[in-house]
Amino acid sequence: MKLAGVVLLTAMALHAAAASAEAYDAVQARQGWVLNCMGCHTTDGSGIPGKVPALRESLGHFVAMPEGREFVMRVPGASNSALSDAELANVLNWVLATMNASSRPVGFRPYTAEEISTHRRPALTDVAKARMGLVKKLQANGITTVPEHY
Ligand code: HEC
Repeated sequence: MKLAGVVLLTAMALHAAAASAEAYDAVQARQGWVLNCMGCHTTDGSGIPGKVPALRESLGHFVAMPEGREFVMRVPGASNSALSDAELANVLNWVLATMNASSRPVGFRPYTAEEISTHRRPALTDVAKARMGLVKKLQANGITTVPEHY
């Protein structure tokens, strides 16, 4: 009886940990990605050299900085997408978990619909300048894997 209780509590704790680390619905996220992002960013988020940035192993570094977390919500492709706030949060959390597993910061707080609603607008007008500021800040912190130009 006692042992069963311990096993149950452990299972519940593990489940809670998994739920908090991966706060997204993969089926809905993939659908949102396919319909709203993939056409430009390509199927696996590799982007198109010279035209569309890769979203792989770069966003994890951006979201480690408060202004980078906001940048990701306010780039035109995300900000102006037809996705609802909850859907955009879901897609971004999925992109961060599946395409940025090694760069996503430990203790990353998943995006919420409330946060997206408050910060996604207005869309950035000078994306290149905002992005360069972020890349320079990463470089100053020793992170040189996010390219200045894509
Ligand atoms: C019409 C093409 C297009 C669509 C659709 C699109 N994007 Fe983008 N995205 C771009 C381009 C081009 C950039 C580079 C910045 C700019 O010019 O807006 C970019 C930049 C980004 C960035 C910043 C990455 C970096 O390294 O600077 C993120 C994050 C992003 N997009 C996420 C998304 C998400 C999420 C979706 C779907 C909801 C999406 N985009 C839809 C074209 C697109």
